[in-house]
Amino acid sequence: MNILDLGCGTAKVSGAVGLDVIPLTGVDVLVNLEERPYPFPANTFDAVYLNDVIEHIPDTIATMEDIHRILRPDGHVFIRVVNWNSHYTAMDPTHVRAFTEHSFDFFGKRQGRSYYSPARFDVLRVDKQYNARVLRWIPSERILDFLSQYLNNILEGLHFELRAVKEPGETAFTGDVQEDMLAALRCPACLAEHARDGSPDPGKLKLVDDQWLVCQDDYCGRKYPIVDGLPVMMNKEGKRWQAYADKELPQPPEEYARIPIETTVGGEVVFAKPPATLDHLLDQLQRKRSLVVVSLLTGLVLGFLLGRGRKRG
Ligand SMILES: C[S@@+](CC[C@H](N)C(=O)[O-])C[C@H]1O[C@@H](n2cnc3c(N)ncnc32)[C@H](O)[C@@H]1O
Ligand SMILES: [Zn+2]
Repeated sequence: MNILDLGCGTAKVSGAVGLDVIPLTGVDVLVNLEERPYPFPANTFDAVYLNDVIEHIPDTIATMEDIHRILRPDGHVFIRVVNWNSHYTAMDPTHVRAFTEHSFDFFGKRQGRSYYSPARFDVLRVDKQYNARVLRWIPSERILDFLSQYLNNILEGLHFELRAVKEPGETAFTGDVQEDMLAALRCPACLAEHARDGSPDPGKLKLVDDQWLVCQDDYCGRKYPIVDGLPVMMNKEGKRWQAYADKELPQPPEEYARIPIETTVGGEVVFAKPPATLDHLLDQLQRKRSLVVVSLLTGLVLGFLLGRGRKRG
């Protein structure tokens, strides 16, 4: 089973190959998901995950089309995304897109606006994640479903499962991607160039000195560095080393060295402070609920006494 986790960050799905633009420990291939095609041949993966990632990528149609290309027929896509009217959508400055429960219907059955893209996916399920506190107060998903159409911060998360609808095609890589990742990688520039001329397996790469992946296509010769065991499959790197002969290649550039997940200060592991979200504030308020009730009662009693005093005067 070949599984791909796009934008895996520090929480890669178990058994998956993880792609990200930041060289964190745990990431397997460095890519910029805004650059397509992704560096794999068609029909390679059984499942692709995008957990809290698709809202960061500007071109949703092109992203879904390339996922469709690398998925095997009937392969599944699992997408977790924040709902359009949750404050989390607007809070993160790197979010560029908002999604509703119907966003992926545009890739579904050929009706309505599904002519936007030829990539077809069956929407198998959409699970809704409601705000836990609101769910405690109103424990009916039917009512919450209705309310969330009009009120913010009730429906927080959407979990989609889609199935790629496509004709069976040639599989250029039939092995296990996790076990033999370097053999599964392809030069993205050549994948793009040969998309139309139908070459059977463009962009094959050769490992040189355990530090470089060199494109074997005639007239290409792009070279992708491997830093700390991490292949850097980005356009700018492929081009940067294109003119070098294989034997003249220097040490790969160090700027892609892995970033450790935690920072250690004086022997202590330090994590970044989480932002003060609305949830955090509501939590604090809930803890102080008794204080709020006492204040309200005091206000009422004082109001009553003052009112009586004024009447007498
Ligand atoms: C909110 S985090 C989610 C991480 C992980 N999937 C999880 O479930 O915790 C978003 C991730 O997407 C990655 N990302 C954002 N834009 C990207 C891009 N253009 N190319 C590759 N990765 C990207 C970020 O580096 C980050 O690791
Ligand atoms: Zn190439």
